[in-house]
Amino acid sequence: MKHKLVIANWKMNGDFSSNFSLLKSIVAFADKPQNTQIAVCPPFVYLSQVYDLLESSPIALGAQNVGFAEKGAYTGETSASMLQEFACQYVLVGHSERRTLFKESDEHIAEKIKLAVAHNQTPVLCIGETLEERASNETQTVILSQIKTIIDKVGSEVFKSVVIAYEPIWAIGTGQTATAEQAQQIHALIRAYLRSLEPILFDEMTILYGGSVNENNADELFAQNDIDGFLVGGASLKAASFEKICFAG
Ligand code: G3P
Repeated sequence: MKHKLVIANWKMNGDFSSNFSLLKSIVAFADKPQNTQIAVCPPFVYLSQVYDLLESSPIALGAQNVGFAEKGAYTGETSASMLQEFACQYVLVGHSERRTLFKESDEHIAEKIKLAVAHNQTPVLCIGETLEERASNETQTVILSQIKTIIDKVGSEVFKSVVIAYEPIWAIGTGQTATAEQAQQIHALIRAYLRSLEPILFDEMTILYGGSVNENNADELFAQNDIDGFLVGGASLKAASFEKICFAG
């Protein structure tokens, strides 16, 4: 059976108590034998709490962001080396909300990827098109440009450590999930593009789908050849829904 990676992006949600009970529920079902690697990306303030709870669990700790410099006068930022102290395995980079709301540039994204890899973290590079871009048939151009821009800045050797998350912006938080066919088409495009560049390096790259994934659409999405798992927002805040997503397929 195809291995699956499912990452929970809690975004800026929950509190100490609700996140504690949510995580206890996830830890409970994650111990069942399955072909899924689960990761949880809590808000930074809860990293230590989640780290403690995951200590003897197969669930990986992830971060929703990382600083674009090793250290220094960057108020509010958290460095890759600080995340390394919490054995953080995954780091979301270039999420559309970071790009649009916090004006994250390709340069910032590239530096974050390099720092994450240098600190033994797997960067999860988020890419995706807007509704307008899809409506004007620019999706393929946008997606490949987002990938090429980053490969050009970080190089193939670093990029091979990246997980890609295709998150059509129009599907994030909207309940308008991409159809399995729409998602598979873009995932296959990404896979073919990477193979055309460096077959050996990129052939096994993990490509996740994100954007209104839920317990009702996860099976059909995961059945697609080039969908290797999910980056889940809203549905990851509900243990029962998230469990069904983790066991999809
Ligand atoms: O990072 C995952 C997120 O952007 C998707 O959010 O709520 O549509 O699953 P949601």
